[in-house]
Amino acid sequence: MWKSIQPAPPDSILGLTEEFKKDQNPQKVNLGVGVYKDDDGNTPVLSCVKAAEKELLEKQTSKSYLPISGDAAYAAAVQRLIFGEDNDVITAKRAATIHAPGGTGALRVGGDLIHKFTPDARVWVSSPTWANHNGIFGAAGFEISQYGYYNPEQKSLDFDKMMTDLGKIPAGDVVVLHACCHNPSGVDLDSGQWKKVADLAAEKAWIPFLDFAYQGFGDGVDEDRFAVEQFAAAGVDFFVASSFSKNFGLYNERTGAITVITPTAEEASVAMSHLKTVVRTNYSNPPAHGGLVATMILDTPDLRKMWLEELAAMRDRIVNMRKSLVAGLAAQGVEGDFSFIEKQRGMFSFSGWSDDVVSRLRKDSNIYVVGGGRINLAGLTTSNIEYVCKAVADAMK
Ligand code: LMR
Repeated sequence: MWKSIQPAPPDSILGLTEEFKKDQNPQKVNLGVGVYKDDDGNTPVLSCVKAAEKELLEKQTSKSYLPISGDAAYAAAVQRLIFGEDNDVITAKRAATIHAPGGTGALRVGGDLIHKFTPDARVWVSSPTWANHNGIFGAAGFEISQYGYYNPEQKSLDFDKMMTDLGKIPAGDVVVLHACCHNPSGVDLDSGQWKKVADLAAEKAWIPFLDFAYQGFGDGVDEDRFAVEQFAAAGVDFFVASSFSKNFGLYNERTGAITVITPTAEEASVAMSHLKTVVRTNYSNPPAHGGLVATMILDTPDLRKMWLEELAAMRDRIVNMRKSLVAGLAAQGVEGDFSFIEKQRGMFSFSGWSDDVVSRLRKDSNIYVVGGGRINLAGLTTSNIEYVCKAVADAMK
């Protein structure tokens, strides 16, 4: 069967990790995949997760299937986290949430659901966007186009272009938006700008699809839901794909959710019935462990407090690494103003390093950066930052 079939190219992000793992050089640095690392270069299990797992281990009595939609307590905890406790979406029961396997699974379930009813809709992604958005929505059967977002010369958001492009998108098309900590650029909208985008969505009747994978990595759990709140207040149909991979460090537990928000409770219950059909015909029902852990943490005040502190520590370390990188590049005499790195938010920075610099970093210094120059700030540590800055200085000569 496979004799005449060409191999597929490696994934632009996860393929880089495979290469990194094979690299024998002890000085190698992975600034690729969006995984948090502490200052020792480890991706630890959070203490709140360990504590919840210990309790689960003792209390759990069965590994029987979860419902197709996942655990109801998990869905309720997800809704409180992404909308805020008293949001009208929750009290009016205007949202249907299911546990999906990670943020990617959530995007795909949402994509499949939309495609089932509006196969001719087009999906619009920001220029640039997370590479897998194209893969996921393409695999769901959509044609994909881009709207303006990032200005590479100014290294900032091109809000005018974004609004002009979004203003031309036809009703019923799907617009993928990064709710916070834009991946890959690290450049976000401010609160006034989000309000304008939500108003435009209501006016033009395109469908916002919010990718919310980094809640808590911008300014904080409550602050980072501003975009979601604006769309909720606008009363429009929209989707939120959320994930606990990053903010709970539950990467390999595939703990995400897709939430469909509708103007009325009746519509939400119709949406739920179809979400279940999509899940049943894909993977039947979700894995349980990560959802049980996250629910226990979110619903237990002591564990929740511990989690918020651990999340703040991750966020603060990344902010410090932004500062160290800017200072370190200056100290190595790298030409140019890199202060924009400190203004960007979340795990990533669009470094502005050319493809040539990215490939020299890899070849000469065993430093792995995603094509296009996206770097994961959490890959930097106090031990490797000088090595990285010197390598950048050499690669830019
Ligand atoms: C990333 O962008 O690096 C992460 O979201 C991990 C992934 O699946 O690509």
